[in-house]
Amino acid sequence: MKSECFVILLLIFLLEEHHFVCANSIKDAPQEPTNQNAEIECINYCFLIFKPVLDNFVHLKTAADANNETRETIKDLQSQLKNRESEIKIKEEAMKVKDEQIADLRNHIKSLETTLSERSNQLLECRETEANFPDSCPSGSPNGIYQIKPRGMEPFKVPCVSSPSGWSVILRRFDGSENFVRNWTDYKNGFGNVRGEFFIGLEKLHRMTNERPHELYIKLGKVDGSKSYAQYDDFRIGNEEESYELKSVGKYSGEAGDSLEGHVNKKFSTFDRDNDLSTENCALNRGGWWYLSCYFSKLTGKYYDSGHNSSRHGISWGSWHDSNYTISLTFAEMMIRPKSL
Ligand SMILES: *[C@@H]1O[C@H](CO)[C@@H](O)[C@H](O)[C@H]1NC(C)=O
Ligand SMILES: *[C@@H]1O[C@H](CO)[C@@H](O)[C@H](O)[C@H]1NC(C)=O
Ligand SMILES: *[C@@H]1O[C@H](CO)[C@@H](O)[C@H](O)[C@H]1NC(C)=O
Ligand SMILES: *[C@@H]1O[C@H](CO)[C@@H](O)[C@H](O)[C@H]1NC(C)=O
Repeated sequence: MKSECFVILLLIFLLEEHHFVCANSIKDAPQEPTNQNAEIECINYCFLIFKPVLDNFVHLKTAADANNETRETIKDLQSQLKNRESEIKIKEEAMKVKDEQIADLRNHIKSLETTLSERSNQLLECRETEANFPDSCPSGSPNGIYQIKPRGMEPFKVPCVSSPSGWSVILRRFDGSENFVRNWTDYKNGFGNVRGEFFIGLEKLHRMTNERPHELYIKLGKVDGSKSYAQYDDFRIGNEEESYELKSVGKYSGEAGDSLEGHVNKKFSTFDRDNDLSTENCALNRGGWWYLSCYFSKLTGKYYDSGHNSSRHGISWGSWHDSNYTISLTFAEMMIRPKSL
């Protein structure tokens, strides 16, 4: 712009001066013979001075225009660049977010993989242990607590004895550490410690003895250290709707005498489910049993270290102590074993 103004001013100045010069020369022209020459000289002069200046002006104007154009182009490019930069920034932000999402997903996948491997390990363990559970106490194996899984039942722990071999203990009394005067629910589900005094539970007995025929073996002991036993070849318990009735005991054999046959077809009674045939509630002070009257046998009676209780609340197997129910046994074990067909 500045250069343009300057050029215009210079031009005006030059034009005025040369007009003056030329006019002067023209005024003088008629008198002088050199008139024609002077005019040509003037035109030449004008041409010589004016033309380059004009040329220069046009050149400058073009240059300025070009410059302006270039500037405009640069401006344009700069703004385009700015736009691109901000676009890139936005893209970068978006990519950051995506990266974070990807990292999150990776972590999620990792945790899922961990869970999966844990689960499959658990499954494998389950399969292994389940496959390894016997459905009853293994015969010929040493005394101890075994996990058994009778058909159609969840695995559970039971003491197995080696002599006689292959029997599962379902009730044990030997030190009075466990209270046996208990309610229906406890007798249904079982109670006590399989390493100590315990009862395995009526529901398990029902399911085991109905799944396949079982023998029953009973070991007895008195306070004087004497021992005896009774055995039955078909022990079977009804379901809860039948009040876990003693369905069958089969044929008796042994030395202690038969004190169980008399309880067959009798329902199970506890102090809170009196199913006995007595006027009194036999289970009130004695623990649950298949009572009719309160006797014959009751291996769930109270434990007396002395081996005696005048109130007849103790552990009894009538046929082994002449139906003297003031005597209380100090040892009792009931065991079952699937019958070999
Ligand atoms: C440059 O060009 C723009 C339009 O593109 C115009 O507005 C501006 O006046 C020009 N400047 C000069 C010095 O020619
Ligand atoms: C049975 O006795 C146990 C304790 O031995 C108790 O926890 C439970 O609530 C009792 N159930 C009923 C139905 O009385
Ligand atoms: C018999 O047991 C009852 C509790 O069941 C008790 O009150 C009584 O003292 C016991 N009698 C003897 C002689 O141990
Ligand atoms: C019953 O056994 C007790 C010992 O516990 C004894 O003192 C008593 O004389 C016995 N009763 C009969 C009738 O034999």
